[in-house]
This record gives sequence, structure tokens and C-alpha cells, in this order.
Amino acid sequence: MSQHFASRPLVIAPSILASDFAKLGEEVRNVDQAGADWIHLDVMDGHFVPNISYGPDVIKAIRPHTKKIFDAHLMIAPCDPYLEAFAKAGCDHITVHAEAGPHLHRSLQAIRALGKKAGVSLNPATPVSAIEYVIDLIDLVLVMSVNPGFGGQAFIRSALGKVRDIRAMTAGRPIDIEVDGGVGPDVAGELAAAGANALVAGSAVFKGGTLEAYKTNISAIRNAAALARGEAV
Ligand code: DX5
Ligand code: ZN
Repeated sequence: MSQHFASRPLVIAPSILASDFAKLGEEVRNVDQAGADWIHLDVMDGHFVPNISYGPDVIKAIRPHTKKIFDAHLMIAPCDPYLEAFAKAGCDHITVHAEAGPHLHRSLQAIRALGKKAGVSLNPATPVSAIEYVIDLIDLVLVMSVNPGFGGQAFIRSALGKVRDIRAMTAGRPIDIEVDGGVGPDVAGELAAAGANALVAGSAVFKGGTLEAYKTNISAIRNAAALARGEAV
């Protein structure tokens, strides 16, 4: 079943925004061991979004704690002056928001010139047409299923239709479709069926606070998505 899923592997990306910042290195090691594929890094500036999280120095400090892909989600404006710092800190993917500045094409060129995978994130109100003319510069589309700025918000269901539209738009291209916000085992199947292959989860992964809980939580999300993809669980 599901030939169209075959090209992009299923990815679970815990967001460390929901972790215990007092022991960030240990939290990263634990989600790595618990089965995370990517580590999702939410960078917030108190300007583009109404919250402040952490920046390149913190990312650099946790880089030695895992070999997993560092998937940076920059909720900052402007972003261009900081791209090099995030690349040097060890981010593998650098995703910027389509709404964050007037020169999206330039930002994506800059990320690729730094040798990193380039992503574009779309807020819930942003149409998919925002990526139409930059599609050749995109390795990843990050569909926000909450308004960015905080963890623990409710999943916005219109993201499902947006994922379907992006899947159609990116068909045949090596582009990951990632969804972020309010994602847990309850919606993972629907998201995978719609065409998302990368699922970010903060609260749904870090609830429980132990390595054992993280294993259970990641498996629950992975199994729900894998089932919808027609893959063995
Ligand atoms: C929101 C962030 C998300 C968030 C996800 O601005 O981009 O990555 O941490 O957290 P949950 O899974 O709790 O919605
Ligand atoms: Zn995020």
C-alpha cells in the first residue's frame, strides 16, 4: 500500500521546548535514546512571536549530546543576520517563516549556501501559495498547526487540508512535509494519511518526564502514523 509514502521516511521530532531546561543535555540524550529521529529546536525572539526561548549558544552547548539531526525552527525576524550562527552551532535543517521578512528567496539561498537544508514554515493563516515561487530552494515545509510561540496548544484541524495541498504541490520532489503544534497520537494517523512525513511533538513526547515515558510517548505517535502509512508497527 501507499506507494506515494515510500520516498519520504517517517520522522518523529521531539521539540525540546517542552523539556526540562535545567537538564537540557540529559533531556536530549533521553529523547535520542527513546527513539527520536530529529531534535526539533524552537527559536523564539519575543518579536516575531510573543515568547522568547533560546538561541545559537544553547544549541551549540547541546550539540555534543546527540548525533541526531538538529531541526531548527526559527521564529525570529529578521532571520538573515543569524543564519550563519545557527549553522555554526550545528543545526542541520534551518527553517524560516514565510511571514518573517520580505526576502524569503534570499534567506533560503543563504541557508543553502551555508550547506544546510532549507525549510519554510507557514503560519495557520498563510496560504500554500507562499512557497510556490521558492519551491526549488526548499528541502522541507513546516506546517504550523498552532499559532507559533507556545507549546501545549490545541491542534488546528485546517492544517490537514494544507498538508494535502502541499503534498500535491511538492509531488515528485525530495521535500519533507513536517507538522508542528498540538501533535500527538490522536492526530498522527490523520496527518500521515494527509501526506505529512515528519511530526513535531513537544508536550506529547515530554509528558511523564522519564526515559521510559519518552519511549512510550514516541512509540505511540510513531505507531499511529506508521499504521496510516500502511507500514508495519
Ligand atoms: C510552537 C513550536 C512547537 C511547539 C510544539 O511555536 O513551534 O514546536 O513547541 O509543542 P506542542 O507539541 O506541545 O504543541
Ligand atoms: Zn517548532
